Amino acid sequence: MKPILLLLLPALILASCQQPADNTKPLQNRIDSLEKKVAESYKPGFGEFMSSIQSHHSKLWFAGQNNNWKLADFEIGEIKEAIEGIRKYDTDRKESEQLVMLNPAIDSMSGAIAQKNPARFKSAFHLLTTTCNNCHHAVSFEFNVIKVPDASPYTNQDFNSGDKK
Ligand code: HEC
Repeated sequence: MKPILLLLLPALILASCQQPADNTKPLQNRIDSLEKKVAESYKPGFGEFMSSIQSHHSKLWFAGQNNNWKLADFEIGEIKEAIEGIRKYDTDRKESEQLVMLNPAIDSMSGAIAQKNPARFKSAFHLLTTTCNNCHHAVSFEFNVIKVPDASPYTNQDFNSGDKK
């Protein structure tokens, strides 16, 4: 054997020993398939949360109009939950950053409900509704105009009963 080959021999042996056994492939396939499943799994969209907020905004109004403070408290809680949902699931939407603008209106509404104060409720509701529209303007959805509801679309729900204390 030529001396140069003798010199290279340890390197060659080492290289052949270090060839990894390809037993990681099934694991990698499994990871790939799980990643695909996660990416394709259902997550509620911005518009779905907004439709839910729309219904709670409406119910909140009729609860307040009927001095039904427990229901009003529940409805503002549902709006808060939907906002948290957008923050959690719709991080890819830039508009999510604007959600903070709702905080003053929500705080004001919570205060009015805690005080069971119809006048404060009314002004907090107007502030809330204006904020909905301000955001729609800010994110170029200004064609989506929110207003104080005229009549409840929920003919199967009684806003004037239950424990109204
Ligand atoms: C962060 C800014 C922001 C705020 C605050 C906001 N919206 Fe929206 N709203 C949006 C965006 C963005 C869309 C469009 C969603 C989409 O891509 O489907 C939208 C869509 C809507 C829609 C249309 C949903 C549909 O599919 O028909 C309604 C209704 C709506 N918003 C109601 C409200 C109400 C009521 C409030 C206030 C309580 C509110 N929004 C506050 C950003 C906002």
